[in-house]
Amino acid sequence: MTAEFDAVDLIRTKRDGGELSDEQVDWVVGAFSRGAVADEQMAALAMAILLRGMAPREIARWTAATIASGSRLDWSALERPTVDKHSTGGVGDKITLVVVPTVAACGAAVPHLAGRGLGHTGGTLDKLESIPGWRAAVSADELLTQLKSVGALVGAAGEDLAPVDRRLYALRDVTGTVESIPLIASSIMSKKIAAGAGALVLDVKAGSGALVNDVGSAAELARIMVELGTDAGVRTVALLTGMDTPLGLTAGNALEVREAVDVLAGGGPEDVVELSVTLARDMLSAAGIGAGRDPANALSDGSAMDVWRAMIRVQGGDPDVALPAATETHTVLAPADGVLTKLDALAVGVATWRLGAGRARKDVPVQPAAGVEMHAKPGALVRAGEPLLTLHTDEPARFQRALAALDGGYEIAPAGSRPELLPLVIERMD
Ligand code: URA
Repeated sequence: MTAEFDAVDLIRTKRDGGELSDEQVDWVVGAFSRGAVADEQMAALAMAILLRGMAPREIARWTAATIASGSRLDWSALERPTVDKHSTGGVGDKITLVVVPTVAACGAAVPHLAGRGLGHTGGTLDKLESIPGWRAAVSADELLTQLKSVGALVGAAGEDLAPVDRRLYALRDVTGTVESIPLIASSIMSKKIAAGAGALVLDVKAGSGALVNDVGSAAELARIMVELGTDAGVRTVALLTGMDTPLGLTAGNALEVREAVDVLAGGGPEDVVELSVTLARDMLSAAGIGAGRDPANALSDGSAMDVWRAMIRVQGGDPDVALPAATETHTVLAPADGVLTKLDALAVGVATWRLGAGRARKDVPVQPAAGVEMHAKPGALVRAGEPLLTLHTDEPARFQRALAALDGGYEIAPAGSRPELLPLVIERMD
């Protein structure tokens, strides 16, 4: 087939601040997907986009072309409305583990298909894989059967879901172009739209542990994603949430599963409960069944836990089996009496990653039991010599680098001081 456009012309157009036409966007995404545009050309285009940005029309077209590189799932055979959620990633973010069964217990079907975690924020599949026997791979037939019977599913996104994004993301990852807001929005939304849910709630994080740190840029990302979803016929809502300190009291795979189970049992840390219930209410409302059961009741009456147990069992896991525990621990003690005014999300995230809970490359296995347990949250009074953090790993050689990541990551100020933190929920956008 003769190329309709020349990749170099398109790179020059973006480099010089111009806009690509719809036909040019369709062509370049399609040609890259077929191998007719070289990696180095696509990388140059991604860099031009990072530096020059994209008009809303270009982002929408880029997203549609990315979706068209694969197939779009269809849940019309289900009797319940479908709704999904996506978090842009945070430290200690185990909210998906709680909200997927909770929202299903309240009457919606939740097809949550995820990719693997990279970097300092953990991936949901890695967390669930710390449950012995649980498998992330679910065939297309199993997806529908599980959604009909259990109503909730967390599984690995299939190869055919926006496949060109996988190649583009790998290229962005090694060329310093991940940070482009239009490309992040398009990458996330192409996969979520292709996954076929009728409604979507986005948890867009801001703060030191977030993909996008400053609140203004995170708000821009949220606004673009809401527009992309809405234009594609998916009822989309975004919550802008704070991620300058970790969520809950654990970061790391099995540690986070344990905490999510505590929340499903009606307990757990206040911030995890509050954000889970808020997101679950928004999901039900976006699915059109907001006037039905309250997610807070599903957590207290055991119905969310029943769905969790069924969801784990159907994918080969045993919800009653003991989770893996690390062979080695190291406790960090509070150096002084006072108020914990800072517990930095990025510092805890990097420490968790260095303890073995996260991966630097896609093909590297993670340690299920590694992570950081926090004994106090910002605002708490602490006493000198009391445990502040417990580090978990199977390889004690990892402690030193994890401790280095935590250096300067927490602060204790005289009694009466107050932490300066972003609110848990900064803003709702729809
Ligand atoms: N997550 C994605 O799926 N894509 C991005 O570009 C960034 C984060």
